[in-house]
Amino acid sequence: MKKIGVALLGLGVVGGGVYEILTNKREMIKAKDGVDIEIVKVLERNLDRCAQLGVDKDKITQDIDDIANDDNIQVVAEFFGGVEPAKTFLKKALASGKSIVTANKEMLSKSFCELEEVASKSGAGIYFEASCVGGVPVIRTLCDAMQANEITSLKGIVNGTTNYILSKMSDEGMDYQTCLLQAQQLGYAEANPTADVDGFDATYKNSILSSLAYRKKVSIDNIFREGISNVSVEDIKIAKSLGYEVKLLAISSCNEGNIEARVHPTLIPLSHPLASVKGAFNALYIHGDSVDDVMLYGRGAGALPTGSAIVSDIVFCAKQTEHRRFEYATTDCEDVHFAKDFECGHYLHLEISHADVEKCKDAFAKHGIEVKKNVEKPLENGEICMIFITKKGAESRVERALCDIKDVAEVCAMIRVEE
Ligand code: HSE
Repeated sequence: MKKIGVALLGLGVVGGGVYEILTNKREMIKAKDGVDIEIVKVLERNLDRCAQLGVDKDKITQDIDDIANDDNIQVVAEFFGGVEPAKTFLKKALASGKSIVTANKEMLSKSFCELEEVASKSGAGIYFEASCVGGVPVIRTLCDAMQANEITSLKGIVNGTTNYILSKMSDEGMDYQTCLLQAQQLGYAEANPTADVDGFDATYKNSILSSLAYRKKVSIDNIFREGISNVSVEDIKIAKSLGYEVKLLAISSCNEGNIEARVHPTLIPLSHPLASVKGAFNALYIHGDSVDDVMLYGRGAGALPTGSAIVSDIVFCAKQTEHRRFEYATTDCEDVHFAKDFECGHYLHLEISHADVEKCKDAFAKHGIEVKKNVEKPLENGEICMIFITKKGAESRVERALCDIKDVAEVCAMIRVEE
């Protein structure tokens, strides 16, 4: 039977989950996959955490060189998060011929080419199923199950924390801060939750997924990003009354070399399959030209779901005779253009005096903005609350219209709409 020695870097939420799975399921994996995975070393400073998980003292180290120089280790799995020291440690592991398995989307989206360069020289592999959509096999699907397709678009809920927050705000009317605290306590959020709520985490994932889908480098600098901290319970309620749910979506498309990629809160119709994705669950909606629509759904965060993807990568890596390379995802291509403006619908929540209502409608007409739905209600201060859902159109037109009416209307919210 093939024997694989593994080192785990970090025993936090996900590292601990992987430790548990590898310990409890070693026999099952041997029987099912013919691979015996042994945890040879653990790099962790918190000795209480090691004791809590029952790690043998002689397996614990604080020194990456102990791992890089150990011939009994073939795979290094990393759970630090953040770029450093993860990148330096993983480059060391790759240079010494050890394959790496990581969920570190920030490091991958910022430094994949550096890792790939080292891996190409030593012949080691890079595996990152757990970096996007937690326990759901999206990377394997994009790389190994859609060969017959040109993938033309992706649309997904790829961050568990923000989906948890928006679901609680929508279903229970809970306030944003309380929901965020709960998401942190449940172990979904990043160490610094602004990475989640400001959309960085979803942007890293969008970069990884879009690069694989279109086989072109889609760097984070080419992805428009807006987080959820300005989404209010009031707007979620209004959106629902008009037939929409609010979700933080990662969206991208590729059309004849023109790539558009963005992350932002989005109104989607209640009838759309993504609208029913609640809590820390994630889903990715992929459009391929042969298969049509595919939707993958499951837990996007948490110790065991993410651990499930990590362990799957370790087993998958152990079975390869030659490791896959991703040159296309690391090279800038001259024939790719990234959209600066994009088209979608817009939900606009304005407060305006009676006298200025027509000015507002005129500004929309002047910039060619077509309104699909319009609701007006009087406010206690005598002004009018106006809600518009516009038809799909260029964002720059909406910006220009809002600029024209900035002196007469307060823009309480602007949320993009995907039908
Ligand atoms: N903070 C991330 C999330 C963890 O909430 O989705 C999984 O990548």
